[in-house]
Amino acid sequence: MILLQNTAWLPEAASTVAPEVDRLFHFWALVSALLLIGVVGAMTFFVVRYRRRHRDEVPAPVKEKKSIELAWIVVPTILVMIVFVWGFRVFIKMYTAPPDAYEILVHGYQWYWEFEYPNGVKTTGELHVPAGQPVKLRMTSADVIHSFYVPAFRVKQDVLPDRYSALWFEATKPGEYTVFCTEYCGTQHAGMLAKVIVHPREEFEQWLESAGIPEDMPLAELGARLYREKACFSCHSIDGSRLVGPSFKGLYGSTRTFEDGTTAVADENYLRESILQPGAKIVQGYPNVMPASYASLSEREVAALIEFIKQQQ
Ligand code: CUA
Repeated sequence: MILLQNTAWLPEAASTVAPEVDRLFHFWALVSALLLIGVVGAMTFFVVRYRRRHRDEVPAPVKEKKSIELAWIVVPTILVMIVFVWGFRVFIKMYTAPPDAYEILVHGYQWYWEFEYPNGVKTTGELHVPAGQPVKLRMTSADVIHSFYVPAFRVKQDVLPDRYSALWFEATKPGEYTVFCTEYCGTQHAGMLAKVIVHPREEFEQWLESAGIPEDMPLAELGARLYREKACFSCHSIDGSRLVGPSFKGLYGSTRTFEDGTTAVADENYLRESILQPGAKIVQGYPNVMPASYASLSEREVAALIEFIKQQQ
């Protein structure tokens, strides 16, 4: 069954629970296939064997046979009980995190994932974890329902506003795996992807130490980093191409025309307002869909983004 991995049949199995899920799945797929062959085979055989041969032929009355009736009650009952007990055990294991699990906070936003580590480091779009250690995700959403899904780990869990949900896994080998959002959450739902980057253990410690944003990072550099990490790029291009929102190219200093026909020059105050209160002024021809979640950016982060936008001439 290992041979079937990394195909359209099944993605790579890269967590401790994945092989268990796959075994159960393969068992059920095999039983279903055998039942299908048995039922369709018997049906075909009976259709041919007992077909009507003459127009006036009347079949003999059917007599029940206790042993056959018993068999089709007992056999399926045993099969579903096997799958119930087996599935329940795997389910309990999947949803009970070991007490020593390394805990990471996950925030779902329209339309990106943000991860916060115990030492305060935050990443967007990339979840860094150590291999060979249980990791528990405590997850919540800032806006609508999202769902966190890593096919290679065989784990999936809804992420809801106003409450925490949890998920845990132990990655077995270093590498990169894809996170999907599997709950329709708006325009960019399909693009709400992230990467899980599994590091060897020692390397993870090193990464964690180096990942913090230095206090003295120049504003424009920090802005470029935020543009990437806060997923601004999914709606605002820097090459002038039109996405969901206006491009940043040539934005600073240009005259903007709004829905209500008024105009304003895009100066620092305009940019600041548009980041923190996206609905305040809507540029003509664009939908009012920017999430309000950027209001949680710090003063320095807002300044950094403005600096970055100013550079896109
Ligand atoms: Cu978030 Cu779909």
